[in-house]
Amino acid sequence: MSNTPDIAPEDQPDILSRREVLKTVAAGLVLLLPLASATAKPTPEQWTAVGKSAEFVANTPKKVTLADGSVLYVTRQTAATVIAVSSKCTHKGCQVGWKPGETKFECPCHGAAFAATGKNLSGTMRHPQEILPNLPSLPTRLKDGSIEVDLAAVPVEKRRPNPE
Ligand code: FES
Repeated sequence: MSNTPDIAPEDQPDILSRREVLKTVAAGLVLLLPLASATAKPTPEQWTAVGKSAEFVANTPKKVTLADGSVLYVTRQTAATVIAVSSKCTHKGCQVGWKPGETKFECPCHGAAFAATGKNLSGTMRHPQEILPNLPSLPTRLKDGSIEVDLAAVPVEKRRPNPE
C-alpha cells in the first residue's frame, strides 16, 4: 500500500529531472557559442614589407629577420606566388636553417628536415620516421613591387638561440 495519493498525470507538478536540466543547459550553450565567437574581436592584420620582389631569387628561401628579432623564410615561387614560413622548428623550437645544396630546411638541434614550403620531410635523428607538424606558414601578398607578410596570422616566435 502506497502513502502517496493517486494524482492524475495532468495534475502532477512540472518537475524537471536532472537529465532534462542538463539537456536544457547544453542546448543553451550550443546556441550561445556561435554568438560568442561572432562577437570576438578579430586579430587585426599586420602586413609587413619584407623586401622588393626582385630581391628574391625564384624558389630560394630568403631569411628575413624582423625588427623584433623574429626570423622567417620567404620564397618567391613565381612572379605572383610567394610563400613565407616560420623558422621555428616544430619539434622543440630551435631555429631551422636553409641548406641550399640539399634544398631543405634542417634543424641544427635534432636534425628534423622541412621542405621550402614548410612541409615536414623527416623527424629527428633519433626518430627519423616521426612525422612532425609542418613549419607554420604566413599569408603573403605582393604590393607595389614589395612582398608583404601578415605577421598577425601566425605568431612568429622570437629567435631562440640554438644550443651549441
Ligand atoms: S628542435 Fe628541431 S629537431 Fe628538435
